[in-house]
Formats: sequence, structure tokens, C-alpha cells
Amino acid sequence: MQRIIILTIFINIIGALRFDNQHNDGIHLAVGPQCGRLSGTVADVNAGLLPLQRYRTIVAFGDSYTDGGTRDGGLRAPAIVIPPNPKAGGRTTNGPVWVKDIGSDTGALVKDYAVEYSSESRTFRYETYLSVPADEVGNLPKAANTIIEQVTLLTRPPTNARSFLVLDDYGRGTESVAGDAFKQQYYTGLYNLSRTIPGFKAAFVDFKTIWNGVLGPDPGYKAFGYASDGACTLNSSTHYWFL
Ligand SMILES: *[C@@H]1O[C@H](CO)[C@@H](O)[C@H](O)[C@H]1NC(C)=O
Ligand SMILES: *[C@@H]1O[C@H](CO)[C@@H](O)[C@H](O)[C@H]1NC(C)=O
Repeated sequence: MQRIIILTIFINIIGALRFDNQHNDGIHLAVGPQCGRLSGTVADVNAGLLPLQRYRTIVAFGDSYTDGGTRDGGLRAPAIVIPPNPKAGGRTTNGPVWVKDIGSDTGALVKDYAVEYSSESRTFRYETYLSVPADEVGNLPKAANTIIEQVTLLTRPPTNARSFLVLDDYGRGTESVAGDAFKQQYYTGLYNLSRTIPGFKAAFVDFKTIWNGVLGPDPGYKAFGYASDGACTLNSSTHYWFL
């Protein structure tokens, strides 16, 4: 089972923006957030992030869901599929990855360091722990600690990041006690940082709600505008992707 986190750091907070509601092929959220408090159990929360259009630079870390093809924060190849390779410009999807869509919506510069198959990671040590086979669940507490350590590091010079958006998409409709404990551990870790680091802002998106909504019957993938719950890429060498 994969444990995946997509961690995005927003730095700089002045910017301008246009939203284009037509860009997403009619795909839309058909579930609502499950609100809560950063001090409590895992939930969808915004503990201080400004409206996204206020951020001029988005720095993204993660795995294949976020990997824009270059992995070094630099310019990406066009997000175009050239058969037989189903990966648009090296991405594990048939178009731009989600963080690029946010950049397009907000006008922010996206610096993408995500690495497909996080166990191959070269960029950040914590990614090594973020794709953990089910028989290695013993690694998860360490993985959660490592995430918090890396977030802490990013709040220090020279980065001085203060705004963190964390997306947890572990599970894909399947949960485990160990996975939930992992998620809760770094969620609480974010809360702790918000209490100890001046200006620290965090938001958390728990994909459990979306996975269950898309992959389960209530309300089901069609309600989101999808034609199926399978991969949108054509090649079995790629994995599921529909975000
Ligand atoms: C699938 O994609 C890979 C590149 O990722 C390519 O080498 C291979 O030929 C493709 N397979 C098919 C059946 O199209
Ligand atoms: C959060 O802080 C509390 C109180 O200092 C501490 O007991 C707990 O271990 C911390 N948890 C995490 C996940 O950092």
C-alpha cells in the first residue's frame, strides 16, 4: 500500500490572479470538506493560509501525483502526450499535474521538486519514507517525524517558509490503523509547529473524503464529472490518475 503525501509550500504573498472556471473539463468537487480543528483529529482545515491568489510562488514536493517531469524546480516540458508514451512530458498523467493547475488559476510561479515513485527520491530525505509497503508499516511513525522535521527545516533560513498546504492522499479508499495513525501524527505535528513558530500557517486536505466519494457509491465518480474511476492515461505502465 502506498502512503503518499503531497506537500506544498507557499512562499511570498503578494500576487494577482484570475480564475478560469472552464479549465477543468467540467470536473468539480461533489463532496464537501469535513471541517475540524488543527488541534484535534485529522480534518480539512485552513489554519491561517491566505487566499491562494495572494501567493506568488508555490514550491511543491511530493510523488508522482505532483511530479511535473523535471523534479528540480525548473522549467517543465509541455504537458502533451506523444504516443506510445502515455506520460505527458514525463508526468504520470495525460496533462498538467494538480499543482500546475493551481499555478494557472492563481498566476503563481510553480517550482516543482516532486519525484515520481518517492522511494527513488533524490531531493528530500523524507520522501524516502512516504511510499511504504504494507509490510513496512513500522516505518510510518518515523516517516511522520521526518515530514515534520523537514517542514521545520523549511521554516528556517534561507527558505523562511511560513505557509504550508499539506494534502494527504494515502489510502485511495482503503484505510488502515497504522495509516490513520501516521496521518494523525503529522497533523498533530503541524499543530505543534503552529504553536511554536511565529507566523506559521498550515492548511490540510484529507483526501479520504474525495477518495470515498469518487471510488465509492456516495456520490460516485459521475457526480464529479468523471467518465470512469480508472486511469486517464492509456498505458498500463502508468497508474491511476484522475485528479
Ligand atoms: C507505455 O509507455 C512506455 C513509456 O512509458 C512505452 O515505452 C511503451 O511502449 C508503452 N506501451 C504501450 C503498450 O503503448
Ligand atoms: C505535540 O506536542 C505535544 C506537547 O508538547 C507532544 O506531547 C507531542 O508529542 C507532539 N506531537 C507531535 C506529533 O509532534
